[in-house]
Amino acid sequence: MKQQSITDVLMVGATGSIGRFAVQTAQRHGLHPRALVRDVQRAEQLLPGVELVQGDLEDPASLRRALHGADALVLTHGSGSDARPDARAHIDYGGVRNILLAFGDARPRVALMTSIYATRDDVPGASPWKRRSERLLRTSGLPYTIVRPGWFDHAGPTQRRLVLDQGVTADGGIARHQIAETLVRSLLADTALGKTFELTATEGGEQKDWSVLFGALQADAPDAVDGVRDPANLPVAAEPPALRADLQAAGSLRKTG
Ligand SMILES: NC(=O)c1ccc[n+]([C@@H]2O[C@H](COP(=O)([O-])OP(=O)(O)OC[C@H]3O[C@@H](n4cnc5c(N)ncnc54)[C@H](OP(=O)(O)O)[C@@H]3O)[C@@H](O)[C@H]2O)c1
Repeated sequence: MKQQSITDVLMVGATGSIGRFAVQTAQRHGLHPRALVRDVQRAEQLLPGVELVQGDLEDPASLRRALHGADALVLTHGSGSDARPDARAHIDYGGVRNILLAFGDARPRVALMTSIYATRDDVPGASPWKRRSERLLRTSGLPYTIVRPGWFDHAGPTQRRLVLDQGVTADGGIARHQIAETLVRSLLADTALGKTFELTATEGGEQKDWSVLFGALQADAPDAVDGVRDPANLPVAAEPPALRADLQAAGSLRKTG
């Protein structure tokens, strides 16, 4: 897959603890970030000088407007502050579904942040909703990178060396700015296309060559719903009918795109 030219980047979750770093990182790399925000007044305080576009992940019409002109997206949204018991389904998963369905014929590059435990069912608080959101993105056929970060800010200042893993064994911390850098860099490297990986940090100096860093990873199989080394512990055939219908809708984007 060949990298398309990227300027205009829609930042979803831009007011969040990772999103704010991601906006700064995009600016530093000469990109033009536009922040999708629910509350413009609040966002003006958090993101001074950044172009804002009003929108809500639960309002498809607002997403269609916001997506217009975007070459790429960085998705760092999360349902952490949403008290609804099914918030993960609505925001972590439903937000990705609504965005994908709002694209129309556009084929922007997508960097999606999920979680290091996305495929785990053996840890406290494990939830399948982020993994399900990943499956929609893979199925859509859009050019993507999926970053599964470890524990935010559980990495010390000397842990500058990034560890990109594939499989279910990774665990550990990562600084917020490192997550943001990885997401934005993934938009700019051909070698990050179609890849899913866990991200932590360890003692050592930071790597300089991002193309090599991403290039060492295996790509996901072109027609697979899961990441290349994901465990087979959430069979699509056993998923609720509504979720299988969402996957089918995402797959139809691939056919028309
Ligand atoms: N904590 C960890 O160690 C860890 C590790 C791996 C992964 N994660 C995952 O990281 C994610 C959170 O990252 P974070 O700390 O940056 O989250 P955060 O600070 O809670 O930010 C969440 C962002 O999502 C936006 N959002 C929520 N609902 C929305 C909606 N309906 N429409 C538009 N935007 C919406 C929020 O916008 P508003 O400002 O309008 O609310 C905010 O910008 C979580 O999903 C979590 O599971 C966490």
